Amino acid sequence: MNVQTNSQRLFFALWPDDKTRKAIAAVVKQASQHHKGKLIRTENLHLTLAFLGNVNPTQRECVEALAESISIIPFNLCLDRLGVFPRPKVLWLGIKEQPDALTQLANNLANGARDCEIKLDEKAFKPHVSLIRKTNQLHELEVEPIYWNINQFCLVQSISHVEGVEYQVVKSW
Ligand code: 2AM
Repeated sequence: MNVQTNSQRLFFALWPDDKTRKAIAAVVKQASQHHKGKLIRTENLHLTLAFLGNVNPTQRECVEALAESISIIPFNLCLDRLGVFPRPKVLWLGIKEQPDALTQLANNLANGARDCEIKLDEKAFKPHVSLIRKTNQLHELEVEPIYWNINQFCLVQSISHVEGVEYQVVKSW
């Protein structure tokens, strides 16, 4: 909690189960042999659905009620491609085929967050798991596809420490 403003930095995300997390961490390790930069810690690996930013207690209550009202249709994700966002210099793991259920979930959360008077990034949703920050150009690598069963999503708090950022799952639905 930010003591001065009472606000929390929050985002909705898909949080990998242990097996998926280990598989993604193995890709981080593989990719780090060809990409310089700051590796994302294994416990921080996730896929952001909607980044909310600083949220006050009323807005948090509102987004939790919104999340409660969403019934997630389970779906599978296949993480099967690497890419780089050149401006923030992030190497990411993403998907070739974006399931409609994923787009729908992200849209529902974003629209609901706007209804809670949260100003969202207007950039198009580009599902990805960040692997390495401050990286160099993409080195094309064959990655073993990772199959991830999705049956829940969560609200996560981002907490900044001098040693780096910590993500805490607040609630799952
Ligand atoms: P990234 O991994 O591509 O940096 C917590 O910061 C999570 O929210 C990260 O996964 C981050 O994506 C994502 N995110 C999306 N938009 C953001 C923004 N405007 N500021 C910070 N994080 C953002």
